[in-house]
Amino acid sequence: MSNLPAATRDDTSTRWFDHSRLGLFVHFGLYSVAARHEWVMTRERRTVADYERYAEVFDPDLFDARDIARRAKRAGMGYAVLTTKHHDGFCLFDSAHTTYTSMVHQGRDFVAEWCRALRAEGLKVGLYHSLLDWHHEDFTLDFHHPRRDDPDARSQNEGKDFSRYRTYLHNQVRELLTNYGTIDYLFFDFSYPWTVDGWTGKGKDDWGSIELEAMCRSLQPGIIINDRLDIPGDLVTPEQYQPCAPMEVGGVPVRWEACQTLNGSWGYDRDNTDFKSVDLVLRMLVDTVSKGGNLLLNIGPDGRGAVTAHDGRVLDEIAEWMRLNSTSVIGAGPANLRAPDGVVYTRAGNRLYIHVMAWPFGHLHLPDLAGKVRFVRFLADGSEIRTEVHDPDKEALTTEVGGQPAGTLTLVLPTRPPSPMLPVIEVLLEDGID
Ligand code: GLC
Repeated sequence: MSNLPAATRDDTSTRWFDHSRLGLFVHFGLYSVAARHEWVMTRERRTVADYERYAEVFDPDLFDARDIARRAKRAGMGYAVLTTKHHDGFCLFDSAHTTYTSMVHQGRDFVAEWCRALRAEGLKVGLYHSLLDWHHEDFTLDFHHPRRDDPDARSQNEGKDFSRYRTYLHNQVRELLTNYGTIDYLFFDFSYPWTVDGWTGKGKDDWGSIELEAMCRSLQPGIIINDRLDIPGDLVTPEQYQPCAPMEVGGVPVRWEACQTLNGSWGYDRDNTDFKSVDLVLRMLVDTVSKGGNLLLNIGPDGRGAVTAHDGRVLDEIAEWMRLNSTSVIGAGPANLRAPDGVVYTRAGNRLYIHVMAWPFGHLHLPDLAGKVRFVRFLADGSEIRTEVHDPDKEALTTEVGGQPAGTLTLVLPTRPPSPMLPVIEVLLEDGID
């Protein structure tokens, strides 16, 4: 069974992505020191000179790429994506084109550490790179820029030559795709080609997207590139929401990845405790897989680079669930079968996975599956679940399976699921069930 969207690239270098279903996003940079959202520079209208002071005090002694990679691996993630540079312009890699880097200021090339650590754990290597750059002197002001409210904001663009920034952008992407071995996934961020308050945003012509993408593919032939260059990419990347259905562009199914935070902020946000529960994250994960997408789940290491206690616990609990239930997610996809209310189906070949979002009383009625099932069990402990099929000639409406439409398979469930974490039921289907 293919879970792959028809309209998108499907070759050996994209299969790992569709198979993985779950990846880790890591937002880390100078904003982790401010600890109040990765957009702090523009939210607080900070000047470059003022913001640059974070580079002097940034001391990420606890950033440990190996530790992050191991946690991602344990949580069943197949890949992970690190911010090489966010909109504030500070680079976590060694660059010949600026001194605003962790190499110059901290003596560390975090991208090199990242790539090594991921490969050591057998994870695919993802890099995030911001198209915006509020630090670069030729990056023109627009409606997202920190200086947009200055009294002389409009005239500040006069001396700027955006083509120099474009060259810088291309040069740095070239460095990232040349100096660190195989890069599997590049997440560009982002385009906004519209006008707000008389400010023109930026899109494909500004970034030189066509040339940039061509360069990426020539340097790294297998690379997967997202859709934020304002030209079609290998996938679409809905952010902070769950699509209602498998995603399509122009009526054609496409590969997609939902990127999600744990508290609404990507970068470390110390005082923001608006956390999603682990249960919600797991439900988002299986919802994503049931619609043929991937989930890129974000953490924001703190100002010293440590994975926060909260994020660490979430990853541990996901790991615990994945230890027993990963086959319902990794390598799985949409079931293309009619699911009853309150459950989410995923499927891998002849195995149907039922995620029970709200535990029912006694029975779960599965439409159309009577006679099509070999065996049913809880995935977590392998224990059998008995099944029944209503026979209208022999049973009254008052029996436990009575009243169900013909073809319904009824599962006989215990009062409580065997584990408090999102329960998964594995159904072994007979051959040839589409
Ligand atoms: C956005 C934000 C950003 C975040 C990203 C993740 O476009 O600008 O802060 O890095 O999405 O998808």
